[in-house]
Amino acid sequence: MLPSTVSIVEVGPRDGLQNEPGNIELIHKLELIHALADAGLTRIEAGAFVNPKWVPQMADSEAVFANLRRKPGVSYCALTPNLKGFERARQANASEVAIFAAASEAFSQKNLNCSIEQSLAKFAEVASAAREHSIPLRGYISCVLGCPYSGAVTPELCLEIAQELLSMGCYEISLGDTIGTGTAASTQTLLKTLLKRIAPEKLAVHMHDTYGQALTNIYTALQQGIAVADSSVAGLGGCPYAKGATGNVATEDVLYLLNGLGIEHGVDINKVARAGANICRSLNKTNNSRAAVALLNKAS
Ligand code: HMG
Ligand code: MG
Repeated sequence: MLPSTVSIVEVGPRDGLQNEPGNIELIHKLELIHALADAGLTRIEAGAFVNPKWVPQMADSEAVFANLRRKPGVSYCALTPNLKGFERARQANASEVAIFAAASEAFSQKNLNCSIEQSLAKFAEVASAAREHSIPLRGYISCVLGCPYSGAVTPELCLEIAQELLSMGCYEISLGDTIGTGTAASTQTLLKTLLKRIAPEKLAVHMHDTYGQALTNIYTALQQGIAVADSSVAGLGGCPYAKGATGNVATEDVLYLLNGLGIEHGVDINKVARAGANICRSLNKTNNSRAAVALLNKAS
């Protein structure tokens, strides 16, 4: 049965912008985040406190958080790979933090410069600091449906990592199809394994749309009772450590899907489409949301 309400985690300001080659002015990041909150999105990943040498585009995350006009009821999240990142996020007053493991040794090395086991040890430190400061903690697992370096990934390893992240105190695990190679069939296989041990309320899906399968995969997850989907306005983004992977599924496209299914989400699709159009104009980028392009054309 499909959920009656779905929560969207907007990752555009982080996942969407982290891979942009050119300089993005702080004002454009802030305008984007403000417009997304104004559209009704209540969970917004606003930055990443990672090594700025690794991801220069997120180097101004302190400035982003310091200058945010915070809307009551909105959670502004940040990625934190280690204690140093956590401390930066805490000083910046991030509403919540996220740790991000991978279900592939090769990807863990490329993205975090350490093995899965070493990354989990660092995340345990972040988790205990987050608990101490009562900051909610979200967990990601990357490459759940395939790795750009080593190919196939097993659902059993995803389950093991998910259980470990949950036992550290993550309130939810977001399953990342980092390179967008998943299909309805592989999504179903993965979820079948995870849902034997983990309640659907503890899971979210984070689908990149490289092969155009993200919406189908989200629909597959909804059918399994998963009610949280990550998405990126205008389909912006990609991971700097997953060459060729395109952005997340577009927020506007997910909203259009949910509207069609009569599932509540609390977000104004037209406002998100306008926010997407503005950031695409600022970045001189093509809008990757089919629904947004259609809505904007109709309105003009
Ligand atoms: P490292 O270089 O191995 O770190 O990076 P280190 O501990 O050896 O320290 C080296 C230097 O980095 C030191 O400075 C540290 O202070 C500094 P130095 O002494 O040389 O001057 N440093 C930091 N500076 C600022 N903030 C920090 C920090 N940590 C160390 N937090 C590290 C290890 C994990 C930090 C690095 O590999 C890193 O930053 N990785 C993050 C890469 C990343 O952001 N990738 C994209 C996000 S993940 C993603 O997109 C996937 C996702 O969307 C889900 C999906 O799609 O699947 C979430
Ligand atoms: Mg991602």
